[in-house]
Amino acid sequence: MQTEAFYDKATGTISYVVFDDESKDAIIIDPVLDFDPIAVRVTHTSAQRLLSFVSDHELKVHYIVETHAHADHLSSSQLLKAELGAKIAIGEHIQTTQATFKAVFQLEDDFKTDGSQFDRLLGDGETLEAGSLSFQVLHTPGHTPADISLYTEGAVYTGDALFMPDFGTGRCDFPDGSAENLYTSITEKLYTLPEDTTVYVGHDYGTADRGPAWVTTIAACRAENKQLRAGVDRETFVDWRKARDAVLKPPRLLFQSVQVNVRAGQMPPAEENGRSYLKIPVGLFD
Ligand SMILES: [Fe+2]
Repeated sequence: MQTEAFYDKATGTISYVVFDDESKDAIIIDPVLDFDPIAVRVTHTSAQRLLSFVSDHELKVHYIVETHAHADHLSSSQLLKAELGAKIAIGEHIQTTQATFKAVFQLEDDFKTDGSQFDRLLGDGETLEAGSLSFQVLHTPGHTPADISLYTEGAVYTGDALFMPDFGTGRCDFPDGSAENLYTSITEKLYTLPEDTTVYVGHDYGTADRGPAWVTTIAACRAENKQLRAGVDRETFVDWRKARDAVLKPPRLLFQSVQVNVRAGQMPPAEENGRSYLKIPVGLFD
């Protein structure tokens, strides 16, 4: 099994193609749809990189997996689904996220909050089979209530739960986020994986000392994670995470991302003039 990473500089997102070069079976994790908020324009450069890689390696993509409803980038899952015939999967607790944002954005009455916009909802401990590939779903809430990590022997894809050791962990201040839950997810679900498991993170922005990076190990995270090394007690982490989140700015593409991603990457239904609109809730943070 191999993992190819695709780094999106605009949002610091890492998308992955996980594949077997012999069987050609593959999944895609967290694909990006490029969105310019000033030009109000969607482009397909990031999705095209994924499609080119899949085509060059003649891969059969079974699933496009979202580790959660992202708040910093739009998903290109619908485009990839149309091109590749793959199914879109996300953690089952997306239903909570959908209900929350239906209220925040006053989405249309018939917007469903049962996750049915996705092809498959994944529960904790479930196995995701993709041809010869097999992943164990780990529900790792905290950043959002719906976050999942995917574990396969030797590797885990942690989305926004666990980042590079010198970067830390995902923020927990979005609606239904929970620093307490993130502590449990990391210490009980991720840090109990074999120490030599390779960790592929969902975001990185580089630091003053290095460029963007996305590969580490469970051992390195346990020993060196700057926010949550193994042995740090719950209260210390939760207090630190809450204090940190209190001074973080909202993501640049927050409103656009969330409204599209709770629809499994679809734009809102077109208005009478044929155009789709994204809302900005004025004063939301007051
Ligand atoms: Fe996220």
